[in-house]
Amino acid sequence: MKNWSKLLFTLFLCSLTTCKLLAQSTPEDQKMQWFKDAKLGIFIHWGIYSVNGIDESWSFFNDYISYDDYMKQLDGFTAAKYDPEKWAKLIKSAGAKYAVITAKHHDGVALWDSKASDLTVVKKTPAKRDLIQPFMEALEKEGLKKGLYYSVLDWSHPDYDRKTRTKYRYKNDSERFQKFVDFNFQQLEELSLNFNPDLYWFDGDWEHKAEEWRSQELKDQLLEWNPNVIVNSRIGGDLGDYATPEQGVPVTRPSSNYWELCLTMNNSWGFQHNDHNYKSPNELLRIFVDCLHMGGNLLLDIGPKPDGTIPSEAVNILEAFGRWTDKHAAAIYDTQAGIPEGHVYAPTTLSKDRKTLYIYLDYKVNESLVIKGLKNKINRIWVVGNGTKLEHREVGKQYWSAVPGLKYIDIPESVYDKDITVIAVLLDGEVDLYREKGQVIESN
Ligand code: GLC
Repeated sequence: MKNWSKLLFTLFLCSLTTCKLLAQSTPEDQKMQWFKDAKLGIFIHWGIYSVNGIDESWSFFNDYISYDDYMKQLDGFTAAKYDPEKWAKLIKSAGAKYAVITAKHHDGVALWDSKASDLTVVKKTPAKRDLIQPFMEALEKEGLKKGLYYSVLDWSHPDYDRKTRTKYRYKNDSERFQKFVDFNFQQLEELSLNFNPDLYWFDGDWEHKAEEWRSQELKDQLLEWNPNVIVNSRIGGDLGDYATPEQGVPVTRPSSNYWELCLTMNNSWGFQHNDHNYKSPNELLRIFVDCLHMGGNLLLDIGPKPDGTIPSEAVNILEAFGRWTDKHAAAIYDTQAGIPEGHVYAPTTLSKDRKTLYIYLDYKVNESLVIKGLKNKINRIWVVGNGTKLEHREVGKQYWSAVPGLKYIDIPESVYDKDITVIAVLLDGEVDLYREKGQVIESN
């Protein structure tokens, strides 16, 4: 009898926990789960701008080249060596879980066989075929999520109210502009129905108001086509599912629950033969880890050449990511943002159950690493992807004080990774931090 009541009580407790978990996870959370767990995505800026190797669309907007000369690049866009399966495999082996490709940039050139437009790579370039379709299939085959970049502004469309530095056409001709917005809806219908993307990466919303773009109607329509589709913040208004800091690595944690830093490997989104200013794999990995620490994703950009080959510098970086992400997978995909700054002088993350603290060292510590203000007991410490167990000791704990002692972890020379070493600290329960400041109790 005693055992029965014990069992019933345990069942009761379990169902309470399940209820709590379900109550905590909103439909929004469920939709965003894969994105939150993905951590790494690859952005692909591929377009006719790779022919001369100049700024994507902006080169004519900023008058570095005339519009007509920009469009002459159509003739050199061959996609002759395009191998979408190779791309998808490379992306997967880098440790990325999704990719976002420019279906249409601000120049208006569609990379798929758009029926709504004549300005497509099928009709206007020697590539003569739909380049999005086979890539979407390849991503699906590799089990990667499919993202499409789509510029809502279109500096080529005759009905687009173009706001350039030098020209502003059809100003206030709202009827004409609405014809253009209808065209966007048509193209997005094609993309949604043909490719069923998991994510839309909109861009260019800054030139018009959300009401002019009919952003709400667009979002509703996209959700009708795919109730699970994720939409970035640049759809106009406040309708996006996640924030998109660009190039600037956040210093403090972004307030948005979901976010993604988009970043170039060199200084260009598309292929530019004259841009050799690549960040090193180590620098990029450290940025990646910073995103993990702050609970966000990294969308790392590559710019393929007009024949569809990926520059070797980019391939090397993706391979370096592959080595590191493969070795440290346990400390990447199943993690959430780490503990607040100040407890350890390194980026951190926590496992989903908050019982393992991961510490990312991009430097070699002098003798030992210290963790401050950790109330938990430490059950075990090891080096991720290496397996070596590490010793620790607690120093300075006073019996009369609530301040935890300093926990020192000795790290032998032999366990360091050439890029970033990850230390896993298994705690005796959910992480519990001492955050008091004088008499003030801080929430954390
Ligand atoms: C900016 C630029 C665009 C680029 C995008 C990538 O919005 O307009 O050229 O594609 O950033 O994040």
